[in-house]
Amino acid sequence: MTRDLILGVDIGGSGMKAALVDLEQGVMASKRHRVKTPRPARPEAMAAVFDELKAHFDYRGPIGCTFPGVIQNSAIVKTAANLDASWVEVNAADLFGTPDSPVTLINDGDAAGLAEMEHGAGQGVAGTVVMITIGTGLGTAVFTDGHLVANTEFGHIEINGLDAETRASSRVIDDFGLSFEQWAPRMQTYLETMEQLLWPNLFILGGGISKQFEEWSPLISIETPVVAASGRNGAGIVGAAMASVLATDGHEAGQPERARGAG
Ligand code: BGC
Repeated sequence: MTRDLILGVDIGGSGMKAALVDLEQGVMASKRHRVKTPRPARPEAMAAVFDELKAHFDYRGPIGCTFPGVIQNSAIVKTAANLDASWVEVNAADLFGTPDSPVTLINDGDAAGLAEMEHGAGQGVAGTVVMITIGTGLGTAVFTDGHLVANTEFGHIEINGLDAETRASSRVIDDFGLSFEQWAPRMQTYLETMEQLLWPNLFILGGGISKQFEEWSPLISIETPVVAASGRNGAGIVGAAMASVLATDGHEAGQPERARGAG
């Protein structure tokens, strides 16, 4: 049985955001609450913010939560490129979850992709769809005929000897004061490389910068159709909530191998 509203939490390098999500409609059903990601971004400090977000909504029940790194078995952090390295091998479902509020983790790019495939720009699109979230890092989600291949890390492909996200994420815009005209060629090269590797039927671009898609998309020209994520920056939160009831990596969401308490 699905509850009407599920708390979705989206963990990013700069902010931790949460909202109640209407799973039927695939939309946020409350205002989004954002707290700055603590620095250093260590597990205990972030768990305290997680509790603060939960308390803000006075919420009890299943929670879906994105993480900006590889997540195995809906729980275990395997990489954390833009957070503190002490996250690696932490069981985030145990750290964040309580018996009455079990937490299902999912990679942030995968979460955004799920939301877009189910409710947004990828609805009904057959073949290969590649979602790219452009933020502090570059997150990717790959779908073939609607099925997610979880934990793809194409944000870290090497282009001209460099990790792609160090050149084309939106962080470089802030760090180096780049204009869209200066940044767009980097995204162009990234999309061209992804196109040659995956030959997708559609690229969906999300992340905070997708709010200004109309301003910079005319500077990009590739053969594959490119659209903005329709959920704009909310796709992560909606996808997080979806993960609490959807299996994404071979495990039944909400019920991985270990006991999850009473929830
Ligand atoms: C991480 C990915 C994540 C992306 C977006 C990358 O640095 O390796 O797992 O999806 O950033 O946050």
